Amino acid sequence: MPALRPSSFISEPGVRPNWRVVLSLLPYLKEFRGRVMLAFAFLTIAKLATVLVPLSLKYIVDYLDETPEALLTIPLALLLGYGLLRFSSTFFGELRDAVFARVAERAMRRVSLRVFEHLHRLDLNFHLSRRTGGLARDIERGTNGISFLLRFMVFNILPTLLEIGMVAVVLFIAFSPGFVLTVIGAVVVYIAFSVWVTEWRTRFVREANTMDNRSNTRAVDSLLNFETVKYFGNEGFEAERYDRDLEAWEAARMKNRLSLAALNSGQAFIIAAAVTVLMIMAASQVVSGDMSLGDLVMINAYMIQLFMPLNFLGFVYREIREALINIERMFGLLEQPARVEDAPHARELRCHWPRVEFDNVDFGYKPDRQILHGVSFTIEPGEKVAVVGASGAGKSTLARLLFRFYDVTGGRILIDGQDIRDLTQQSLRAAIGVVPQDTVLFNDSIHYNIAYGRPGASNDEVREAARLAQLSDFIHRLPDGFETVVGERGLKVSGGEKQRIAIARMLLKDPPILIFDEATSSLDSASEQAILEALNAVAARRTTLVIAHRLSTIMDADRIVVLDHGRVVESGRHTALLAADGSYAALWQRQQQSSSADRDGASE
Ligand SMILES: Nc1ncnc2c1ncn2[C@@H]1O[C@H](COP(=O)(O)OP(=O)(O)OP(=O)(O)O)[C@@H](O)[C@H]1O
Ligand SMILES: [Mg+2]
Repeated sequence: MPALRPSSFISEPGVRPNWRVVLSLLPYLKEFRGRVMLAFAFLTIAKLATVLVPLSLKYIVDYLDETPEALLTIPLALLLGYGLLRFSSTFFGELRDAVFARVAERAMRRVSLRVFEHLHRLDLNFHLSRRTGGLARDIERGTNGISFLLRFMVFNILPTLLEIGMVAVVLFIAFSPGFVLTVIGAVVVYIAFSVWVTEWRTRFVREANTMDNRSNTRAVDSLLNFETVKYFGNEGFEAERYDRDLEAWEAARMKNRLSLAALNSGQAFIIAAAVTVLMIMAASQVVSGDMSLGDLVMINAYMIQLFMPLNFLGFVYREIREALINIERMFGLLEQPARVEDAPHARELRCHWPRVEFDNVDFGYKPDRQILHGVSFTIEPGEKVAVVGASGAGKSTLARLLFRFYDVTGGRILIDGQDIRDLTQQSLRAAIGVVPQDTVLFNDSIHYNIAYGRPGASNDEVREAARLAQLSDFIHRLPDGFETVVGERGLKVSGGEKQRIAIARMLLKDPPILIFDEATSSLDSASEQAILEALNAVAARRTTLVIAHRLSTIMDADRIVVLDHGRVVESGRHTALLAADGSYAALWQRQQQSSSADRDGASE
């Protein structure tokens, strides 16, 4: 699936649609319109104070220069004013940050939630093809990017531009146009240089990010497969692969650093050159008597004051570029279309005794490999239909299609005569309970995992579900009972225990349609028998689809559908199929023989 490769989330340098991202953040600011305005007011006050500081300094110097003997009266007021201005410029800056912090954090929260919800809306294939480690990294970097962008774009770039404007006005009023032109010229050259070099650097930043993702994904994947690594003694192999990724990451970071050094040096040179030219101009005017000493001090102070945030501007521009790339990448996730979506006028499914019908269903996960070919069968209300067939025949695929993890590519699936594509996914899935082939549990308590079937279920209901799923004995033997934590993906409980937890939570959900995909395959015969009895009691009032390898567990099904390479080759009751002497009968014979061989072997 090429659309999932990271590079396609990022537009190539030069195209620069990235700035659009800034606009997409605006709606998140609306929520706090008052706060944003207040922050802007504080910003303006802070900047006014900043610009007035060198001006007051000029008057102090000139006053002292001309009338040094009248020391105490007026200069004291000026000095106090000077101190007050300095304080205001910092204080209002802090106020502005405090007022705005809430806005940025709320925006981060909203966006994180949207991405999270969207990721849950995407189809299963997206998640199967995507690597969780890299995904988590993308989201983290994206939300941090948003915070950075909002805070610095709005509160460092804009203020700096405002300050440059104000200083230009002061210089224009006070001095010859040469000064203003030199300052503006220097600023323009500085910005142009910063933008140009930063653009050039962007690909190094991207490269470093990609390498960062890759090594992170590798590490997470390797740790998730901890057991497999040990089984094959491949720690060295894993470390080597990880180190190769780290090596590439190191190289990318190195280029990143070197290009950063080039940028910083260039910026410093431009500033130094501009300040030197201005000081020479000012000094010569002081000598000729056109300017006072105070003017020279003021210009010097302005230059220091102006280029300090400008220096920052270079940094901010770089960071904002990076933030934009990261945000774009995260929003790229939001743009991933969900392949399974509710139809515009999707209806709610309401059913008590549903009838499920597969009508000539074709399906393939990918266009180049069809898995199901014209599959048709019906499960009448209250019936139990079993699907059997070789591994890879497409049995679990049928369950996934009924649950609408994917849409069929041909034919229809109907519940009570309604195409499931015309139903809301929410109501469809609420009506179906699945015990999947491979149960994965949340890394939480057994109680939590069972109650997940119906959040809000009472303790008694959870216990009853556990009892029906034959879990009571097991749980009683645990020191922590229901509060035992099952470990990541449920790896701290046995396969059979996991299956029973899955059955318990499905029983708790209690939907009208049940799907059992090899639900008892990891159980010993005794617990399997006990569970089947409990399930049969429940299934009597439900419409049930059972997928099974062990044919003895589905002999009592109302109909058995034999699937071979995605085609229905036989269907009927157990006895009828045996009498027909087809592939089901052959399968049955084989299983009978091997189980009697087992028994013989055991009795010897
Ligand atoms: N997400 C996927 N993308 C591509 N191919 C897939 C995907 N999931 C399953 N397949 C393929 O579809 C075919 C049918 O898979 P399915 O899981 O339905 O088999 P099954 O009949 O349940 O087999 P088993 O008895 O081993 O569980 C298999 O050949 C499998 O490789
Ligand atoms: Mg399967």
